[in-house]
Amino acid sequence: QFSFDHLNAEPLKGGEAEGGVSKKKSCTEKLGFSQLTGWRTAAFLFSLFLCLAVVFTFSFILPCPVRPQYFSTWNRTLPDAATYDFLAVEDANEDKVLDVLFIYKDSEASRNTCLSEDLSIPCLVLTAVDGTDGKTLWERPLAAEFDWVECGVKGLGRQGTGCLVAHADNLTAIDKKTGVIRWQQSRSTVLNGNLPLISIQDLNADKADDFAILSYNPESELVFFSGKSGDQIGSKANVDWNGVFGHQQFKTASGAPYLLLLTKSGLYAVSLRHLTKLAVLESVLKEEKSWKEKSDKNTGLISLYQSDSLKRVMVVPGSSSPSLLVQTDSSVSLLHTDKLKIAWSTNTSTLLSVPTFGQFDKDGIPDIMIEEDIGNKTKRVLVLSGSSGVVLWEVHLLFWTQSPPPASVLTLNTYSVFMLWGQSQSRGNQTVRNEMHSSFLMHPRLSQLLLERRNPAQNIISFKATLLERGRHAGYLVLTGPDGRQHAELGETEPVILTKRKIKEDVPESAVLRVGADESAVEEAEVKEAFYRLRFSETQ
Ligand SMILES: *[C@@H]1O[C@H](CO)[C@@H](O)[C@H](O)[C@H]1NC(C)=O
Ligand SMILES: *[C@@H]1O[C@H](CO)[C@@H](O)[C@H](O)[C@H]1NC(C)=O
Ligand SMILES: *[C@@H]1O[C@H](CO)[C@@H](O)[C@H](O)[C@H]1NC(C)=O
Ligand SMILES: *[C@@H]1O[C@H](CO)[C@@H](O)[C@H](O)[C@H]1NC(C)=O
Ligand SMILES: *[C@@H]1O[C@H](CO)[C@@H](O)[C@H](O)[C@H]1NC(C)=O
Repeated sequence: QFSFDHLNAEPLKGGEAEGGVSKKKSCTEKLGFSQLTGWRTAAFLFSLFLCLAVVFTFSFILPCPVRPQYFSTWNRTLPDAATYDFLAVEDANEDKVLDVLFIYKDSEASRNTCLSEDLSIPCLVLTAVDGTDGKTLWERPLAAEFDWVECGVKGLGRQGTGCLVAHADNLTAIDKKTGVIRWQQSRSTVLNGNLPLISIQDLNADKADDFAILSYNPESELVFFSGKSGDQIGSKANVDWNGVFGHQQFKTASGAPYLLLLTKSGLYAVSLRHLTKLAVLESVLKEEKSWKEKSDKNTGLISLYQSDSLKRVMVVPGSSSPSLLVQTDSSVSLLHTDKLKIAWSTNTSTLLSVPTFGQFDKDGIPDIMIEEDIGNKTKRVLVLSGSSGVVLWEVHLLFWTQSPPPASVLTLNTYSVFMLWGQSQSRGNQTVRNEMHSSFLMHPRLSQLLLERRNPAQNIISFKATLLERGRHAGYLVLTGPDGRQHAELGETEPVILTKRKIKEDVPESAVLRVGADESAVEEAEVKEAFYRLRFSETQ
């Protein structure tokens, strides 16, 4: 698995030097039998012909894979529109570079698009733009109002993945390649169904994955749907869970699908098998034996963590025995799911953003970046060790508005680089007025210095750092503009802008910010050079 980055790609070396050593002797030495010589010549010519045939086949008939060229920076601007906190990356045009999907409404430019589909104005537009240059691949106008959207949903239509949009009174499944509507169904049964929806393997034997939508406002109920047609399957599963306010899909080490439920009294799990039985569906789903023994006979609930101030639960990515990061009002804890034991717990103050996973130290266990609000418009950004919960790194930054959560991208050197937002304290006083913020890049091996770029992006609605191509092309996406959920009325005056930038492109424009009192001899040039040398890995 090697990867080259766009700027610093080196030509392939080696592999050509050997193989030129000849064995001339053997042919000419023993010329005793003359008729044999004729056969030999024929055989030689024939094999030469074969060789050439193979060479020509591979060099002319089979084309070399062409690597798509991309712009290191691009933007897509929609005047007078509003947008939503949603960015998805999917390969829509099959050029091996991920494309970007987002949703907006009320743009002047989309007026004709809405009218062409007989939709009243303003309508929503789900759009895919090319990851290489930001050009529009397709646009799908949909009736407003927007509720939620999820892309990468398996089994929608027939094969591959698609996007599922809950809007107006419909659920609409959209093909990611063409933007065509695969099916549209009334969502009256799940009008306040909460995200994220639950993907499940094929339940109704039509060879397409199915899905379920959970509602808990105020009663909890679960409805299963066919991914292929959007029709409801089975009956509605009414469950008397108390005080559920969040959920998360989870697979145990043996691959058994569960649903994690965040409630006012703590974290619970329930197997999807149990739920499909409640919906009177024949179930092919697995259950985890050790969990089954702990489950309540009536409700099927398994108590994982008791707390009256549960905030969030996240599945730690990429670990062989799955762990959960459990966040409460005053702590974050790591829960090993095989033995249901708390590995560590760290006290925190109120967190400002969703925790971010990334490799900071060298132990291969994902570490956690969190942002604490410590008052006076200051946040403390911490990296906690994934194995022990101790603080590995910290910095204090100013913040004014809701800044986007941090992000990380894994490199080939088994560490991640981190990107975060804020305002350095030394510069704080100058810019209180115009609330400019900066984005910061952090290299875990040179974490005494941050690279700070004054980022012109205002009103950031969504932010994502990702690899747009396998093993290379690390970039970040920033979606800015009026928030569609707050600006219900027509007549926006600001544009919606989606910007893509290559992460390395930020390095030459950055200044350095020294972290803490550590006066060790790390120089600006050294940090910048380390960023230029980075090679990015495929998995997050
Ligand atoms: C968008 O890109 C164009 C060039 O492609 C550039 O002129 C313009 O300033 C960019 N806009 C923003 C907001 O970055
Ligand atoms: C909902 O879907 C149905 C069936 O496709 C369609 O006739 C109707 O117009 C849709 N309603 C809205 C508001 O999109
Ligand atoms: C964490 O908080 C709990 C209760 O709030 C307290 O008992 C404990 O000593 C704290 N731990 C640390 C390391 O501060
Ligand atoms: C906030 O800053 C002001 C002065 O800038 C200081 O007087 C006050 O104590 C600080 N508050 C906190 C909670 O740190
Ligand atoms: C910023 O202002 C505070 C008080 O408002 C002051 O204490 C601090 O020294 C100032 N910082 C800089 C870098 O000017």
